[in-house]
Amino acid sequence: MTNNIEIADKQFEIYINADVIAKRVKEIASALNHDFSGKTPVFISVLNGAFMFTSDLLKHVEGACEVHFVKLSSYSGTGSTGEVKQLVGLNTDLSNRDVIILEDIVDTGLTMKMLIGQISTMHPSSISVCTLLLKPDALVEDIKVNYACFEIPEKFVVGYGLDLDGIGRNLPHIYQII
Ligand code: IMP
Repeated sequence: MTNNIEIADKQFEIYINADVIAKRVKEIASALNHDFSGKTPVFISVLNGAFMFTSDLLKHVEGACEVHFVKLSSYSGTGSTGEVKQLVGLNTDLSNRDVIILEDIVDTGLTMKMLIGQISTMHPSSISVCTLLLKPDALVEDIKVNYACFEIPEKFVVGYGLDLDGIGRNLPHIYQII
């Protein structure tokens, strides 16, 4: 019995177990509950990758909040294309709101930089970035990540929302390429 999986001829091994993810997501929700106590934050979830993280995190967020979705794409296969495509945009009023962006992974930071720039023009009170995964060594853009569940090395991962060309999003654990 092996915990390894294969997607598109590439081998992956379990890297972060579902139980560990669940515990850490709860901790991050507690931090948000503390930091945004008495406020009604607007969560902006970045599809497709952040759908599972968003769903699990928000179950532990207390008090009133809103959630909206944008759909962005910058990856092809296991590498960034360097170009962020916006497939579904923001059509909600964010002026004077506390915005919390929910992302699956911050890699080069290009996607976040583009989204932060776009949201800034909508005059929110604050913008925070909350990501499931952060690859600090891959970061090339100067962006502030306020909440990161896990910092990971510069290796391709799938599962818990993350994919390789569309496959792997349903996996409950996070797998790392071997
Ligand atoms: P960035 O713009 O380079 O920061 O990349 C962010 C996007 O690239 C994420 O939202 C993911 O969709 C994708 N991405 C980056 N690294 C990985 C990975 O290891 N696995 C799956 N997708 C990734």
